[in-house]
Parts: sequence; C-alpha cells; structure tokens
Amino acid sequence: MSSEHPLLERAISLEGDKNRIQEFYNDWADRYDTDMLQTIGYVAPSLTAEALAARVAPDAYVLDAGCGTGLVGLELSNRSKALRIDGLDLTMGMLEEARKTHIYNELVEGDLTAVLPIPDNTYDGIVSAGVFTNGHVGPQGLDELVRIAKPKAPIVLTVRDSAWEADGFKDYIADLDAKGAVKTIEIVHSPYHTKEDIFCQLCVLEVV
Ligand SMILES: C[S@@+](CC[C@H](N)C(=O)[O-])C[C@H]1O[C@@H](n2cnc3c(N)ncnc32)[C@H](O)[C@@H]1O
Repeated sequence: MSSEHPLLERAISLEGDKNRIQEFYNDWADRYDTDMLQTIGYVAPSLTAEALAARVAPDAYVLDAGCGTGLVGLELSNRSKALRIDGLDLTMGMLEEARKTHIYNELVEGDLTAVLPIPDNTYDGIVSAGVFTNGHVGPQGLDELVRIAKPKAPIVLTVRDSAWEADGFKDYIADLDAKGAVKTIEIVHSPYHTKEDIFCQLCVLEVV
C-alpha cells in the first residue's frame, strides 16, 4: 500500500455525506491547489482537459462537473481560449476559488447525486476530475451528466483505482454502454497522484 497524504485519507472517507464534504472542502479551499499540485502531484486536471479538448470544437460549450477551485478550467482554457466553460460544485468555498480564475462562464452550486438545475441536452462536452471517487460521487451520478450532455458529446472523467471496481464504476459504465446510453470510447489506466503512486481509470464516453 502506498502512504497517502492525511487530507486525502480524510477525503476518501467522507462517505458521500454532503455536509461533511462541504465542511471538508470549505476548510481546504484556499490551500487545495498547492497541496494537490505540489505535494501530491495531482495530474487529473491536465489529463482530463487534454482528452476533452481533443474531442470538442475550440468554441464548444462544456461543463466542468465538480469543478472545485478551477484546476480543470484553467487547463481547458490553456488549450482553447474560445471554450465556454461552466463549472458546478457542491462546495461554495471551492466555487469562490474557481471564480477568482475568471475562466468560467457560469458557476453553479449543485449536487451531482441529485437532479441538476440544468436542462437536457445542454453541453457539447463534460469533464469531471477527482469527483467520481471513494466517499464522493458514485457511478449513479453519471446519469445526470448523460442527461444534460448533447447526443455525441464526450464525457471525460477520472475514477480512482480504489473506487473503480469496489464502488461499482466498472459495471455501471458497462451497463450504460450495454443499454445504449453511452458508447465507451476508451478507458485508460492513468497516473492520478504521481507523488503517491496512485492511479485512476481515465474514461472517455460518448453520449448516444
Ligand atoms: C478532489 S476535488 C476535485 C476538484 C476539481 N475537479 C479538481 O480536479 O481539482 C472534489 C470536488 O468534488 C466536489 N463534490 C463532492 N461531492 C459532490 C457532489 N455530490 N456534487 C458536486 N460536487 C461534489 C467537492 O466539493 C470538491 O470540490
């Protein structure tokens, strides 16, 4: 077993409890970027942004689901300034940090485990890094992303290795594919926390 940063040990033990998640991330928000990027070597934002940007038009309308402080938005914006990027997150403190990036079109407080305040078929593409993981959002959260994405839109997400089979992501995505809701474009075993030797599955799905 790799030794994990104490904050991440706490993060993956939040049991999907909305209040605990908000309290935890509100406390962490102002130090999150430094801890994640410098101490932990978190690479999911660049990997997911790269995968999404390669599959949408330069001026596409996209959602960063569970945007946190905006690391994915920054990576997307570095790849195309013309992208129109909305961000959604459960935690106000994280959204406030994301607002400071001036990257996002709209920032919305929302819960990926509930019905989102967004119409069907809204986005040309969706990205979600570090959200579909232990103690956060389970695979059922994908249903809402499929609903609010346009047909043929790519959905790019990371699923931490420790959640992939244990929390049912592998089977859930296979079921979504089998019932014709999404097409699995690729699932690649990828780095996640490079300074801790923790990996993820980088999933690229396409809405049918
Ligand atoms: C590890 S951070 C990832 C943030 C950002 N995507 C990144 O890669 O840096 C996890 C984020 O998921 C958010 N989150 C957790 N549960 C959520 C839910 N049910 N709905 C929306 N966001 C949620 C947290 O508030 C937090 O900002």
